[in-house]
Amino acid sequence: MKFFLDTANLDELKKGLALGIIDGVTTNPSLIAKEGNPIKEQIRRICEIVDGPVSAEVVSTSGDEMIVEGRDLAKIHKNVVVKVPLTRDGIRACATLSKEGTRVNVTLCFSSAQAILAAKAGAYFVSPFVGRIDDIGWDGSELIQDIVGIYDNYGFGTQVLAASLRTSIHVIQAARAGSHCGTMPFKVLDMMFNHPLTDKGLAQFLSDYAKAFQEAPADR
Ligand code: E4P
Repeated sequence: MKFFLDTANLDELKKGLALGIIDGVTTNPSLIAKEGNPIKEQIRRICEIVDGPVSAEVVSTSGDEMIVEGRDLAKIHKNVVVKVPLTRDGIRACATLSKEGTRVNVTLCFSSAQAILAAKAGAYFVSPFVGRIDDIGWDGSELIQDIVGIYDNYGFGTQVLAASLRTSIHVIQAARAGSHCGTMPFKVLDMMFNHPLTDKGLAQFLSDYAKAFQEAPADR
């Protein structure tokens, strides 16, 4: 399972990248807006520090404009994946950009029917939003399972990128469903480390060792 950080914040990215387990980055217009720099500038900065796919989302709404904007975003860096919304115009833009060899992430996917359209348009990634489906009282993890199964039936090359992952449980559910990738904020990645028995066990190991050798672990 590929792990992407869902952020446009460089400090968060640096902290996440330092762990050595991050495969790429996803952004959206809300995340870019928080950083206060225009999209092209912020994406360029992200690409300078991340070795992997970096999703940059268009803000145009017509297919023709998305295609022009997507081509422009793709020129920023070879790692840029152009992100388009799952609308009729977005699917048309995805089909055109994909045929030109640009990788496209189709975002705002909330149903299996939509995910089939993204695959048919040659999307490199499709992003179903687990958390936002849970928000309306449905089960986002079922959607991931369904899309993975459908894509397997036909050998579609589109990778499922489980998005809107808000808890460790969401990450586990996406992994159980066989999602190719998951994108999460740094705080969710950080939460995945936590287990009281790890802390307790480590404290015990270090104290047993220190007692036996009459030295503090720091003196080793
Ligand atoms: C990522 O590509 C999505 O834009 C993001 O995961 C949405 O997450 P949210 O629903 O927590 O805002």
